[in-house]
Amino acid sequence: MKRSELLEACKKELERGKTRGVGLQLVCSLLHQKVPYYDWFGFYLAIPEKRLLVLGPYEGEPTDHLRIPYGRGICGQAAERLETFVIDDVGRQDNYLACSIHVRSEIVVPVFKDGQFVAEIDVDSHTPDAFGDDDRVFLEALAPLCASHIPDIGSFPEVGG
Ligand code: SME
Repeated sequence: MKRSELLEACKKELERGKTRGVGLQLVCSLLHQKVPYYDWFGFYLAIPEKRLLVLGPYEGEPTDHLRIPYGRGICGQAAERLETFVIDDVGRQDNYLACSIHVRSEIVVPVFKDGQFVAEIDVDSHTPDAFGDDDRVFLEALAPLCASHIPDIGSFPEVGG
């Protein structure tokens, strides 16, 4: 499937899931299914005042990394730098949190809503050097479409306190 078609399909899923608040989950399922080397596709939601990322909707193997402080791992570094990280070989990273031993490469793209950092798209691949410019362009185009679907962190009561 071409990236332009995938983006259109994601828009449809976001719209379809809007009223039930499941748009992001539908996007995770779609992309996990349609792109063979997207072995794990998910969202981390930002809590800026705690400098913490919390696991949101995802598709793929369950991960131990339910919460990630800013600065830790690739996700935490992207939260501090507020820029896309493309990691060709996770084995060469000092500051990396392994989701599974099978993961070889990763891309993390920040999501902004009204200029504020609210979440990240995180994609893991079992294929080394899986993510090219086409993935970066595609995911950076997808991120703003997802922004209005990022749940208010107030709906995650376990995060409070
Ligand atoms: N690899 C990420 C952690 C998230 S899991 O891969 C889902 C990192 O280094 O931040």
